[in-house]
Amino acid sequence: MALSYDDLIHQAFAARERAYVPYSGFMVGAALLTREGKVYTGCNIENAAFTPTNCAERTAFFKAVYEGERRFDAIAVVGGMSGTQAGAFPYTFPCGVCRQVMAEFCGEDFTIIVAKSPGDYKLFSLRELLPEAFGPGDLDH
Ligand code: THU
Repeated sequence: MALSYDDLIHQAFAARERAYVPYSGFMVGAALLTREGKVYTGCNIENAAFTPTNCAERTAFFKAVYEGERRFDAIAVVGGMSGTQAGAFPYTFPCGVCRQVMAEFCGEDFTIIVAKSPGDYKLFSLRELLPEAFGPGDLDH
């Protein structure tokens, strides 16, 4: 993999700037790395009806899948309230719905990078964050 986790986290921070969050003020960015080394970024996009809100992770996945991508290595996720200063970011974990979307397209070894900054992050496998997932294989018959 030519791209480092640091690079991916930087791209997630840049994507976070695009967040549309008039309701929560919580800005999230994601950077999704394909097996071939391409990156698709996403931000969260909220809605006055709340339910249609799309998380940053799903924005990145849906952009990538639309472009024909099906094989992914890792995703970096960064989040924090608008105005959060460097050094004060929390770790932001993907919500359950986003984990399920990951399970649709990624194997259990897919890497989820939860970052406070490019130098401060934790790594998880999809296996760890969504054990015993229901996935495409369950509909094979
Ligand atoms: N959100 C994400 O975009 N990704 C996450 O990993 C957690 C939550 C968004 C959804 C909503 O716009 C805001 O954060 C507050 O829940």
